[in-house]
Amino acid sequence: MNLTLPKWYDLHTHFRQGENLSAYVSEHLKMGCAGALAMPNTKPPVSRVSGENDDTSWSIESYRQEILDAGGDAFDQLIVPLYLTKDTTPEMIHEGAESGLLKACKYYPPHGTTNSEHGVPLKDLLGSDVFKAMDDCGVVLCIHGEAHGLKGPDYFDANRSAEKTFYEESMPRLLEHHSGLKIVCEHITTKAAARFVSEGGPSLGATVTPQHLLFTVSTMLQGFNPQLYCLPLIKFEEDREALRAAVTQHGQQRVFAGTDSAPHTLKATDCGCAAGCFTGGCAPQLYAMGFEAAGSDLVNSQPDIDAFRNFLCLNGPAFYGFPPSEETFDLVRTPSQSELLEAGEGPITPLPFGLKLTMDWSLK
Ligand code: NCD
Ligand code: ZN
Repeated sequence: MNLTLPKWYDLHTHFRQGENLSAYVSEHLKMGCAGALAMPNTKPPVSRVSGENDDTSWSIESYRQEILDAGGDAFDQLIVPLYLTKDTTPEMIHEGAESGLLKACKYYPPHGTTNSEHGVPLKDLLGSDVFKAMDDCGVVLCIHGEAHGLKGPDYFDANRSAEKTFYEESMPRLLEHHSGLKIVCEHITTKAAARFVSEGGPSLGATVTPQHLLFTVSTMLQGFNPQLYCLPLIKFEEDREALRAAVTQHGQQRVFAGTDSAPHTLKATDCGCAAGCFTGGCAPQLYAMGFEAAGSDLVNSQPDIDAFRNFLCLNGPAFYGFPPSEETFDLVRTPSQSELLEAGEGPITPLPFGLKLTMDWSLK
């Protein structure tokens, strides 16, 4: 059984830098991906719009060119958001938007995830001229929605988490200050975030990763599998249910694919474990499994297939304001396995390989 779909868009991924960049881009192209939003948490961060890279900051212009030169020129769309730092100015936003290079800015909770140490606390941005400039210019705000600096049960507990706190306390304040801003709640993982998004208007979108649709924290903890360690952390059953309901809802237009594929050559580090799941080469297969686990019938039910197509291929482009792909790719309902990705800087473990998971779908 074949599922022919328009090529899809990954509206949150990490292509990194250096020798492995071309391998990561190539895995995305292989899985029918027509374009991507490539995260700016490189070293140093992509915190300027234009100009040459230097030791403290890169520019969207240069990083984007690096990705294009590494094979990304085969994408129809390639958006690099600007990493919001203490040095971001409203002038950068206005000039960047005018030049066409700046489509989105990325909020990172300071020290909340990989390479997020240049982030600015959200409270410092509320009411700021930077957010006002983004609103004026139609620049999208991509949010990593976790409260920063929390410890112990405030960070993660059965009833609380850094994400829940962020969506219950910070996000309402953000909307009070900047009601017109276009916002993507990225890689949402909790019932609280899903509720916040469902209650929002057309300027509020969200992405969901394959791992948060498929697994719960117990999958990571039973046998302790570091391959599933990513941020925001995989949560509980009621959270997974809320995410599944959000993505499979017929006719929904604001929730879309953003894999947060985040390759790490070494998961075990001096600080414990590097956060990030690599889903290059296998994301559509995993998303299809997530929909089926949620009860969708991707073989016989046209409304379910339409909802899957909306999530994977159509909603993201519509939200970001570019056309969906006119090319297609095929998913086939036969089992497949992923393999270690051999790349110059060392092999990368795709999530299904790390979990010894056979996927129910293959790429044609
Ligand atoms: C990402 C990374 O490795 O860059 N890690 C992750 O666990 N998702 C950063 C991020 O998006 O939080
Ligand atoms: Zn990410």
